[in-house]
Amino acid sequence: MLSLLLPFFLLLTSTRTTTCTRTGINDDNDVIQWRGNIAHTAHFNVTLLPGQPRQLYRHHGLNKGVHSAAKSSPVVLADGETFLQAGDTGILYRIEIATGQPLWAAAQLGFSSFGYHSTPCAIYRDDDDNTPDLAIIGSYDGVLSAFDLETGHRVWETSVGEHIGASPTCTSSFIYIAVEFSTPRAAGGVCKVQVDTGDKIWCSYTMGSHSHCTAGVDYQHNVVVAGSNDNYLHVFRETDGVTLAKYNTSGAIKGPILMHHGFAIFGSWSGNIFAIDISHLASKVPTTATADTIQIERGPGLYKWPPIESDKKFMSGVALDPTTNLLYTGGHDYKIRCIDFHTGKVRWEYQTNSYILSSPIVLNNAILSGSSDGYVYALDKATGKALWSYILGRTGRITASVDVSHDGKYILYASDSYGFTAKNQCKGKPGSLHVLEIRETDASGSMHEEVAVDDNKEEVSDEDNDNDKKVDSAKAKSDEGLKDEL
Ligand SMILES: *[C@@H]1O[C@H](CO)[C@@H](O)[C@H](O)[C@H]1NC(C)=O
Ligand SMILES: *[C@@H]1O[C@H](CO)[C@@H](O)[C@H](O)[C@H]1NC(C)=O
Repeated sequence: MLSLLLPFFLLLTSTRTTTCTRTGINDDNDVIQWRGNIAHTAHFNVTLLPGQPRQLYRHHGLNKGVHSAAKSSPVVLADGETFLQAGDTGILYRIEIATGQPLWAAAQLGFSSFGYHSTPCAIYRDDDDNTPDLAIIGSYDGVLSAFDLETGHRVWETSVGEHIGASPTCTSSFIYIAVEFSTPRAAGGVCKVQVDTGDKIWCSYTMGSHSHCTAGVDYQHNVVVAGSNDNYLHVFRETDGVTLAKYNTSGAIKGPILMHHGFAIFGSWSGNIFAIDISHLASKVPTTATADTIQIERGPGLYKWPPIESDKKFMSGVALDPTTNLLYTGGHDYKIRCIDFHTGKVRWEYQTNSYILSSPIVLNNAILSGSSDGYVYALDKATGKALWSYILGRTGRITASVDVSHDGKYILYASDSYGFTAKNQCKGKPGSLHVLEIRETDASGSMHEEVAVDDNKEEVSDEDNDNDKKVDSAKAKSDEGLKDEL
């Protein structure tokens, strides 16, 4: 089966001609996904327009927000004019950027009060043979679904686990998705699924807890890599799902895994950012299904550089600018860091006012990230100086990633609900979808008034004080699957 599929895959990827302007390195040009490509560099060939952002529109009710994990991020599609956005209400929308009008809405199949946390992939297929282009997304009912990108009609669905909190990693032929189980006990794993049919090629349910991780895929080294709440980075053989290694990081690993030059680069709740060498695993394929468990402390040559340390957690994904080999990521210590891939040295840090769960994206002339302080930040890549930061109204946490249109003009992001705030006047305002438009700043500085509106700041400090209490009570109520989200 596999020997038939692989040549087919290679043929497909080498003969495609569709081009999307919003692509990163190593891209399969027929797939658009959250972190740009299967290596998750989150590097996009987009130049942010100069000027200041202003709100174009804001839609309420996207997320109802009972816990503050990173939820679904917007994904601008190949046409440059529309985007996909899912919410924890269990509805996936395709929306026109300029107007905010939905073209279609598609609901999750089963019942799950946590809906979609997954960020969808878009897969463009051959125009000649009537195969629909697809939106691929997982939902908390454990179902991976493919919707017709034109109509929103369901094309197939596959149950892969009890819950899906993670985002799919997609090629033209295959989808890799981390899944989780709550019964009889917390567990998880990764499945490889066929794009055309939704058939499972393999599922490896070897994790000791849930996985919210967007799996990194490296065909050169024949591995699929995903973290878990069991504290391990799990490395699977791409062809059959056999576990090749497990790395104990002493903390949950929740963000997407960046794959670069044979290293898996990611943050852990241990308070570290790791760059672990997985390149040797390709030549050390085990003959049994029993994995070698590798203690993280063990062995010289395991790391690219000593793990970066913080007294706070890391959950944000790491982005890479392949032209400079600089890495960008956020932390629970409120900082966005720029790290040299070759040396592991921190080039600069930018301090925001709250946790950063949002995974930064890298553009030609800026990086963009959200923060739990409710601001979107555009930072200079080389210096970390803010080009601008933006908040308007009671935005709440931005835990998902920010996206940008191909022309660098529109900024898209979702913000959390006020479920965790102490202030009554803020309660019941559901999470929002925001679209900003960059406008040239006029000489009179009339932008100032709007950009400077900042009634969120007070909320943030309240939120922080209140947080643990709220999380505790949420924990007590929630199922195993959600209790350790924040
Ligand atoms: C980036 O996009 C521009 C057009 O917008 C194109 O001319 C250029 O070749 C692209 N660069 C890369 C590296 O893809
Ligand atoms: C993982 O590493 C930590 C820190 O060294 C250690 O305390 C813990 O026992 C390890 N876990 C397992 C399952 O080996």
